[in-house]
Amino acid sequence: MGMTISNKRRLWLHRYAIFAALWIVALIFFGAQVKSTSSGLSVPDWPNTYGHFMFSFPWEKMVGGIFWEHSHRMIASIAGLFTFALTVATYRIDDRKWVKRLSLSASIAVLVQGLLGGLTVLFYLPTWLSSSHGTLAQIYLCIVVSVAVVTSPRWSDAPATSPDGGRISLRSLVLATTGVIFLQLIFGAVMRHSDAGLAIPDFPTMFGSWVPPLSDARLAAANHELRDLGLLWKRGMQDISAAEMFSHVLHRAWAVVVTIMVLWTVIRVRRERAEAAIRRPAFLLLGLLAAQVTLGILTILTEKQFTVASLHLLNGALTLATSVVLSIQVRHLLRDPNRDAVPVHQGRPRVAVPSGRALEADEVGA
Ligand code: HEM
Repeated sequence: MGMTISNKRRLWLHRYAIFAALWIVALIFFGAQVKSTSSGLSVPDWPNTYGHFMFSFPWEKMVGGIFWEHSHRMIASIAGLFTFALTVATYRIDDRKWVKRLSLSASIAVLVQGLLGGLTVLFYLPTWLSSSHGTLAQIYLCIVVSVAVVTSPRWSDAPATSPDGGRISLRSLVLATTGVIFLQLIFGAVMRHSDAGLAIPDFPTMFGSWVPPLSDARLAAANHELRDLGLLWKRGMQDISAAEMFSHVLHRAWAVVVTIMVLWTVIRVRRERAEAAIRRPAFLLLGLLAAQVTLGILTILTEKQFTVASLHLLNGALTLATSVVLSIQVRHLLRDPNRDAVPVHQGRPRVAVPSGRALEADEVGA
């Protein structure tokens, strides 16, 4: 049977959303390289580049840090245009109100993101602003990925088929896992933008000990050792503060929490014998987590080789996006068996009707 025109348009909307998501993945990598190569202020003005309009800045001057900072800006501006087009296309092609709103929120996210990026330059990269810029980038990616998921031809509004049992439902578990991963991204961003990524140079031990160096005496000894190792020069020889050391320890400790949550989720997905739309993102999540921990350890052992650090950030974004996809699919396809059950002793049973209005039982003669 041939495809109707409206189905064809929807398929193209879905494909375009995937393309936009891939563009944003590339954008995040370039953004990560700006920080990893300390190129953040190599273009001092914004929105212009050395007084030039962004797209007429001469190519031969794209050297060193300017290459990363300026290409990040250009790729970001194009991502903005792609995203506005995605929103317009969604409004024209998809008739579900919530999908339109979701797509609109992607455009709002990219606008705010661009503004935050510009402000980081104008305010000389304060930690809180750079960390917010890093975090919103990941939210933005997740929104566009969500648009791609819900516009897929395989997405159907048919009622859920599989039940979701257990004391803690998989529906809740996937949300908790996504929340835990999101927190880890924030902890990572704060650590990275306060230049505390190498506050502890060894792994899994911490200055040769299993106890985190959080006491005053240990912190002083740690700073002494970092000075000897030459690991403070990137931060203008400034000592690691107690809060910065804490942020580093927190990121390492939280990785254990992330690992437990992801393992728990994957085991539950296996046990539920869930369908492929759920199994696939769950196993991908497990693979991405393994890569993420490996890249995190390598970031430390290579003393923050810049591509390794950027790949760790990029893979972190993919991990979060995959967890979001898993959450969407689980919440779409699995339903808590108790949710729709009629409570026997809690007043009159209610019957749902297609209009969305709930009828009282006596209205339908029950
Ligand atoms: C478990 C999952 C993990 C996730 C999801 C994660 C995520 C992230 C992200 C997103 C960033 C950068 C944030 C930003 O700049 O916006 C980051 C930074 C960092 N992470 Fe992780 N991470 C994980 C585990 C680990 C582990 C196990 C280690 C090593 C012990 C590690 C070491 C680091 C370091 C050193 C940085 C700072 C890099 C720099 O300063 O350039 N991470 N992490």
